[in-house]
Amino acid sequence: MRAVRFTRTGGPEVLELADLPAPQPGPGEVAIDVSHAGVHFADVMFRRGQFPVGLPAVPGLEVAGTVAALGAGVTGLQVGEAVVAVPTGLGGNAERVVAPAVTTLPLDGLDPLLAAATACNAATAVGTLRGAARLVAGDRVLVLGASGALGSLLGRLATVYGAALVVGAASTPERAARATAHGYQHAFEYAELADRTPELTDGHGFDVIIDSVGGAPREQARSLLAVLGRHVVIGNAADQDISLDANQVWYDSFTLAGYNLGGLLARRPDLLRAHLAEGLRLVADGTLTIDVEEIGWDGVAEAHARLEGRTAEAKYVLRTA
Ligand SMILES: NC(=O)c1ccc[n+]([C@@H]2O[C@H](COP(=O)([O-])OP(=O)(O)OC[C@H]3O[C@@H](n4cnc5c(N)ncnc54)[C@H](OP(=O)(O)O)[C@@H]3O)[C@@H](O)[C@H]2O)c1
Repeated sequence: MRAVRFTRTGGPEVLELADLPAPQPGPGEVAIDVSHAGVHFADVMFRRGQFPVGLPAVPGLEVAGTVAALGAGVTGLQVGEAVVAVPTGLGGNAERVVAPAVTTLPLDGLDPLLAAATACNAATAVGTLRGAARLVAGDRVLVLGASGALGSLLGRLATVYGAALVVGAASTPERAARATAHGYQHAFEYAELADRTPELTDGHGFDVIIDSVGGAPREQARSLLAVLGRHVVIGNAADQDISLDANQVWYDSFTLAGYNLGGLLARRPDLLRAHLAEGLRLVADGTLTIDVEEIGWDGVAEAHARLEGRTAEAKYVLRTA
């Protein structure tokens, strides 16, 4: 089968097209003939060595396609059925992938392009806002990295879940404008946050800050939080963390929370399935929208370069045929 692979970590140039043996499903797993595979920022993090990864590796955390074979003990799915799945680890940028049955859901008429574009991020948006942020009606919410694929879903979903104020932050005015197009009431550059927060929050600060960015905005987040606010860490695109004393949570009366899809997949796949089902339902009914660009095999390295270079204008999805 054709697959994108990397045999060493590094820049987008380490990605290559390879001919690999098709994987076989083990017990509780499903083999999927992939038609569409999302290119995700987490693929970039694995490829550049930010997360540990066994080599060689095939990137790809979200796919749509049809069931090719069922492993022992799998019930409720049929060979030939159209599905969307989150595989264990990576492997999705290939003509065939194996995924746990628990994170393989029937497409139920959802466009496979949209399903592959949103599977991980829609699940993460639901799990982050409901599970980690414990969003309640009336919350004032700030999303860092609001212009990205996940940010496009978080703003709208926060409104659906009852937030009174939904603000996005991005690196440039153009990227901030992308956030407002996806439902943010206000969006501006990170550099403006300190000045704009008091006026927008009546001097209280944000009840919830969703932080997939790290770096300087993470450092700044605590000064933007309301008393008893929740700082929810869900990524580190900048590859720069901060250090934090546990006593600081006490002194400053705030909550530090997190959500990691990979962690749920390993420890609570049933919960991840629930988040995935809810997120995809909201995509299917048009509540959550996203700009998608379909690419071919030769476009994956360029897609990585754009994600890493903060110049992506859409979510990239590999069309395998
Ligand atoms: N916790 C989880 O389970 C989970 C699940 C899905 C995604 N994530 C994380 O969420 C983040 C966004 O994912 P995505 O799919 O939305 O990716 P994306 O479409 O590429 O968006 C990345 C976002 O990060 C911002 N950013 C800030 N600093 C950056 C840097 N140094 N390099 C690149 N981008 C930077 C970019 O916007 P600006 O340039 O405007 O700042 C952009 O909005 C990633 O860090 C990803 O790993 C976490």
